[in-house]
Amino acid sequence: METKRSNFSGKVGFILAAAGSAIGLGNIWRFPYLAAKYGGGTFLVCYIVLAVTFGFTLMIAEIAIGRKTGLSAIEAFKKLDQRFGFLGILAALVPIIILPYYSVIGGWVLKYFSAFLTVGANVTAQDTYFNDFITNAQQPILWFTCFIALTTLVVLFGVEKGIEKVSKIMMPILAVLTVGIALYVLTMDGAIEGVKYYILPNMSNFSIMTVLSAMGQLFYSMSLAMGIMITYGSYMPKNTNLESAVHNIELFDTGFAFFAGLMIVPSVFIFSGGDESALNAGAGLMFITLPKVFASIPFGSVLGTVFFILVFFAAVTSSISLMETIVSILMDKFKWSRTFTCILVLIYSLLIGIPTSLGFGVLDFIQPLGMSILDAMDFISNSVLMPIVALLTCIFVGFVIKPKAIIDEVEISGTETFKNKAMFSFMIKWIAPIFLLAILISSILNALGIITM
Ligand code: PFF
Repeated sequence: METKRSNFSGKVGFILAAAGSAIGLGNIWRFPYLAAKYGGGTFLVCYIVLAVTFGFTLMIAEIAIGRKTGLSAIEAFKKLDQRFGFLGILAALVPIIILPYYSVIGGWVLKYFSAFLTVGANVTAQDTYFNDFITNAQQPILWFTCFIALTTLVVLFGVEKGIEKVSKIMMPILAVLTVGIALYVLTMDGAIEGVKYYILPNMSNFSIMTVLSAMGQLFYSMSLAMGIMITYGSYMPKNTNLESAVHNIELFDTGFAFFAGLMIVPSVFIFSGGDESALNAGAGLMFITLPKVFASIPFGSVLGTVFFILVFFAAVTSSISLMETIVSILMDKFKWSRTFTCILVLIYSLLIGIPTSLGFGVLDFIQPLGMSILDAMDFISNSVLMPIVALLTCIFVGFVIKPKAIIDEVEISGTETFKNKAMFSFMIKWIAPIFLLAILISSILNALGIITM
């Protein structure tokens, strides 16, 4: 049974597949705008510290739970302890919230691909271009629908394998292009100020929101606290070194995000003419600054076209894994057919994604929690639901199945020792839950307006 589920070809296969799910819009679109908004170097340091302590602990725990049980999240928690079946369901809610708005941003990427191809970098770099696009009543819906329809077709026909093969070639090219563009940006006048802001921590920029958003980003980017890594773990061969695989995934994922930030954050300084409020552009940041970079490069329209098609591939591999997760949970639970379930998830995504697309234009008067619809969905999944799932996972591992169960799983081959097991046990039992609880309470008090952070 176990070997049947282990269909990754060893460690490299596993790392590539998990990194494929982890690397997506989270790295290229979300990380840079959060870094810009929440204090640059302060955010970066927070993120890295959390990644090597907290992210490491949680990823080890999730993959080990998956490999130990050979089951996906909902069944895995239930199998280990009947009382924790609900945790699998809670984790499954996260991709359900993320898929529609992830696809809205995926639609923006498609739009920019088509715009670079047809009208070129000079037009897309105009100041009003992005705003005109997202406030338009039809355009964002059109591109969002294309994106979610493509995702659905792939999941419906089960051709993920084909897409993954293509993306294994595309992703390294995207990595090279991202590093190349970042290095080019560094040579531009005024980049130094931006690099300083991005790399050097400045305590006056620090707030609880920095930590909260860094942590939400960590979960999002590494596909943690949503059951995904449990499922991936269930396919991991027993003889693969789990600890070093986790180190590799973290390194790829964080490296990608770092260079995406280096490409985008200094560009804000270069092109805003010293206007620091440009750092607060939020979800649109990548779409506002990158065209300006491309417009300043020879053959920028061609490069921009190539860049956005590669980002599209990174996004679509992630949206496929989001949708596949939801579809397989529903199919298992209700015994529906694949076609019916896919159509249902498509209809649901359209129902939620269309108002989300319009949230910056016609529907901008709808402001849940004082944010746009997209930001509110992002906040609820990343800053509320994921910390809750992570907290419960820590309690589950720390006190119900006990850290030893995970350590034994990591060391199962008999030849591997879990090097950081002392840190792992202490983190998962004490530091992580206390920290998560504190963060969660303060973010809720903040959202309710009881305290200001
Ligand atoms: N980790 C992905 C990203 O950073 O873009 C987002 C994601 C993809 C989350 C797939 C969950 C998932 F199943």
